[in-house]
Amino acid sequence: MPRPHILITKRVFPETIALLEPHAELDYVANDDGLTTDELVESARGKQVILSQITDRLSREVLAKLTDVKLIAQIAVGYDNIDVPAATEAGILVSNTPGVLTDTTADLAFALLLAAARRIAEGHQYIHAGKWTRWTIDLMMGHDIHHRTLGVWGMGRIGQAVARRGLGFSMRVLYHNRTRLAPEIERELNAEYVTQDRLLAESDFISVHVPLSEKTRHLIGERELRMMKKDAILVNTARGPIVDEPMLARALREKWIAAAGIDVFEHEPTVHPDLLACENAVLAPHVGSASVATRTRMTVMAAENAIAMIAGKRPPNLVNP
Ligand code: GLV
Repeated sequence: MPRPHILITKRVFPETIALLEPHAELDYVANDDGLTTDELVESARGKQVILSQITDRLSREVLAKLTDVKLIAQIAVGYDNIDVPAATEAGILVSNTPGVLTDTTADLAFALLLAAARRIAEGHQYIHAGKWTRWTIDLMMGHDIHHRTLGVWGMGRIGQAVARRGLGFSMRVLYHNRTRLAPEIERELNAEYVTQDRLLAESDFISVHVPLSEKTRHLIGERELRMMKKDAILVNTARGPIVDEPMLARALREKWIAAAGIDVFEHEPTVHPDLLACENAVLAPHVGSASVATRTRMTVMAAENAIAMIAGKRPPNLVNP
């Protein structure tokens, strides 16, 4: 039987390659630039599986040209870079890496929340700039986290993990989600289901955990930012386009809200210059799942989906079964 072929579109880890090598011929693009769309289409010829990353744009037009591909094994939980309905129509399965990155991403959301509230990045810069010449009673005053209200928008795995962290800080937890959680989970998380508008109006912190889709694009725009409390803090570790970025910059500049902690941007790796100019925005370069252990597990999980596929088994993490 001819050996199956796998395309790996961008650099992964040696462990990932070692895992795949016994099972297939690998076309490994071992650099961080990855492939242009044309190169990807060209390289995908004769490949049954593609190991993709969030920077690969797999549009309907591209997918239609991937005639040999049976599975796209995405190394991420989010897959808005892939037109999944178009993949389904083209007979291509898509898998992702859920679960393994839940707590790591929730940790980062909480790190941004804490950093924005207690002005950690600003303080760090202040010291490095040699501006700290004396202690004063109101130096770098921020906002309390404990005993305040955490609003989780999108209560899937990551949202629930953030809510759990909120409990550890004695916070009151509100949430909004497409569907309400089962009563026992609500009880465990001590989380109250509220409308979007109540979440916006009552939360001191809003952390966003919805997937990006046409429904959630600019979910948080002018109206929503104006509804938030003046001392509220917004955290986004989901996807950049969920928040209207120039509007967020305006809200931060004009103090409609107090601060923001942002890990994802509308046009990565470009950050809107207005947002860069906001001292009250703590920014991270899309690193929600970027711990050594978790990124390794994500690539292994994608590789396991690929191996299942070429063995004629059902990949365990399909998003379009
Ligand atoms: C990263 O952004 C992911 O979706 O896993």
